[in-house]
Amino acid sequence: MHEMTSSHLRSAYGGESMAYMRYVIWGAAAEGEGFANVARLFRAIAHAELIHATNHFGALRNEAGAFLVPSMAGFGLGTTSQNLEGAIEGETFEINEMYPTYLETAKQQKERSAQLSFHYALSAEKIHAEMYTAAKQSVEAGADPDMGPVQVCEVCGYTVEGEIPEKCPICAAKRDKLRTFA
Ligand code: FE2
Ligand code: FE2
Ligand code: FE2
Repeated sequence: MHEMTSSHLRSAYGGESMAYMRYVIWGAAAEGEGFANVARLFRAIAHAELIHATNHFGALRNEAGAFLVPSMAGFGLGTTSQNLEGAIEGETFEINEMYPTYLETAKQQKERSAQLSFHYALSAEKIHAEMYTAAKQSVEAGADPDMGPVQVCEVCGYTVEGEIPEKCPICAAKRDKLRTFA
């Protein structure tokens, strides 16, 4: 694999791994503040980040060895509103800067597995940013958002609340690949 793409995959793996932990931590904090649905949203999206990390790790299956892995990772443990703001910032960085750059490089280098893994993540992060933004608006109005079951595609991390599509709109997996967070 080309060195630039493998280093991007490692960095993205690090970023997704830390996003997973951050959302688990912020989810527990939301639970403690009485925002049960925000807590559930954090847990569901944490699972999507775990899938992204897993996909990146899999794309690196033939690149064994130990590496220092620099990744952007947000910090701060504040109110649920502040934590949601941190989540939106992280997702926005991935959507606007990180994944478009990584995806473009992987295309130029014809690294197919990396392309797919970056494409899945970029597509799902766009949804995450929207869901966190809606949740933040509700929390700022003092209410836990009204939310049905949240579903996460086990293949690509696609995340949806409410109406479930026949097939995953990102990876075309069947409905039975969706994991429910109710
Ligand atoms: Fe992700
Ligand atoms: Fe995300
Ligand atoms: Fe999917």
